Order: sequence, then C-alpha cells, then structure tokens
Amino acid sequence: MVNKIGLVGGGQIGGVLLSEIVSRGLARKVGLVDIKPPALAEGKCLDIAEGSPVVGRDFNYSASKDFSALKGADFVINTAGVPRTKRPDGTMPTREELLTINLSITDAVAAGIKKYCPKATVISIANPLDAIVYRLYQQLGIKKNKLLGMAGVLDSARYRYFVAQEAGVSVENVEAMVLGGHGDTMVPIRSACRVAGMSVEDFISKAKLKKIEARTRKAGGEVVGLLGSGSAFVSPAWSALEMLEAIIYDKKKIIPVCTLLEGEYGVKGYFVGVPAVVGKNGIEKIIKVKMTAEEKKLFKNSVKAVTNTCAEVDKLSKITKKKAKKKVAKKK
Ligand code: LAC
Repeated sequence: MVNKIGLVGGGQIGGVLLSEIVSRGLARKVGLVDIKPPALAEGKCLDIAEGSPVVGRDFNYSASKDFSALKGADFVINTAGVPRTKRPDGTMPTREELLTINLSITDAVAAGIKKYCPKATVISIANPLDAIVYRLYQQLGIKKNKLLGMAGVLDSARYRYFVAQEAGVSVENVEAMVLGGHGDTMVPIRSACRVAGMSVEDFISKAKLKKIEARTRKAGGEVVGLLGSGSAFVSPAWSALEMLEAIIYDKKKIIPVCTLLEGEYGVKGYFVGVPAVVGKNGIEKIIKVKMTAEEKKLFKNSVKAVTNTCAEVDKLSKITKKKAKKKVAKKK
C-alpha cells in the first residue's frame, strides 16, 4: 500500500480509478482534483466514502477544485482534459484535434504537480496522449523514468480481446503488443502476438487479422460513437492501474508504455509507445522488439504522426509565451 495517490480529473475515467483504488486497497489516502462546480471532486469522494463500510475499506481522502488535494502524493494519475465526441454530422474527430484545448489544461496540471507533489511518479491518460506526455515532460522537469503515458496497455488489450473473440479462446491466452503513437497510426505487432505461446497466424487467417488490426486502430473511436458522449472509461482506468500496480508491487512487468526515447527505435526526444520493464523505479528498461519490415515501416509512420503533433505543441507554446510576454509588457 502506498501513502497517497493523487487523481487529476473526476470524470468518467477518474471515477473508475477512484473506486478501483479504494476496492483494491492501493493507498492510505487519495486526493481528487476537479474544477467542476458545485464540488464534483468532493461529491465523488463522499459517495465512495459512504459506501466504504459496505466493502470494508477505510477511505481517507482530500478533494478540491484547485490542486491542493494532490499535496504529498507519491503518484498522480492525470485524466484532465476534454474527451472526443462525435460531431453533429456523425464524423469522428481525431485525438489530435483535442490538442489546443487540452494543452492549456495540461500546463495547469503540471504547475499543480510541481507545487504540491514534485516528487510524484506521473501516469497520464489525457489525449492526444503522446503529445500531452511530451508537454508534461517539458513542464515538470521530471526524471524520464517517472513519467509514463498510458495507451499501449489499452490498445494491446483491445487487440487481445478481438483476437480472443475470433480465435474462440480466453483472453488470458492472448499476448499482444500495440506500439507507436496512440492515434489511428498505432501499430499492432502481429509478429509478437501469441495464443498460448503459439503464433496468432496458426489460429486466425491473415485477412481476418488485417481486419482486427484495422478495428484495433479505431477502437477508441468505436466506443465514443456508441456511447454518444465521452470516450471509453473503464478499460483506460484498468489499464492505468496495471501500470500503477506494476510500480507499487515492483513487478518488473513488461508493459507497452509511452516513454521518452533517446535513440532507442531510432527516435530521439519524443514519447512513443514501446515495451518497457516497469517496476518500483517506474520505467526501468526499454525493451527492443523485433519487427517485420512492414511493421518497422508502420512504426516509423506512427512516430512521424507523434512528432507532427509535438511540433504543434511547440508552435502553440511559442504563441502562448508571446501572448504572456505581451500581457506582462502591458501591465508594466
Ligand atoms: C481511448 C481513449 C481513452 O482510446 O484514448 O479510448
């Protein structure tokens, strides 16, 4: 059990995180931050506190609209941001289209973490995932092993589920990895997909696998479309907790995570989804996966999409900096 877990965002994903953290007994205290009036964070916490005797879990919490509820947290899970919603014409925006709005929220989150729990390990879920993690890194001045983006666990879980369904076997039999960025260019690594240790191609035809992989790439959008508003929330929360538990219990588990690459996979200075050993020090070692020529090509393409969005982050932050300077100049 850790001392304190901080959650930024009390929306759908934050709500599942909170109840799971309590029912799994992961922390002595939880801090929830949400700006939503009248007092969403307090309401979510009180709801769970009042149910805690039923499940036999003591629940100590702090809840606030500002970031003070994060005070002293050892871990922070960040879900703050606007989720995707289908447009009135029925089309689906990309995660990247959330950038402008979610970037300013991210800057506020980073400032809050720096103020109240600068030593925390941070797991981020907000979209566009890879770019938001990139931004958090710039703003937090955190060690790279302590900043993890959650996407690969979820994307891989989706791939595993679709494969299990098609093969008619338990999800427990399916091992898979989806790497690259958390966008429509993500790369399901078919050559590393195993069904009870055997190649997935022994169970499913190439044509069907192609369809499954296409569905995996769009799986987040599929749920958004079905829900009508907001995005998937249970599966992302469970996925982030798999990462958190790997750290808390020092599991040394190989998990696909969005992490800073410094030359690995031919990428430098960007956060991209790759497998890593996750244990008490956060990201402890990046694992190099063998890919086929086609997978390598797709991975490169996905990295390109990530770097493009990050270039957009840099451009937007320059504009914000300029505006801030102008404001200061005016005040003087
Ligand atoms: C999804 C969001 C959470 O993929 O990114 O469902």
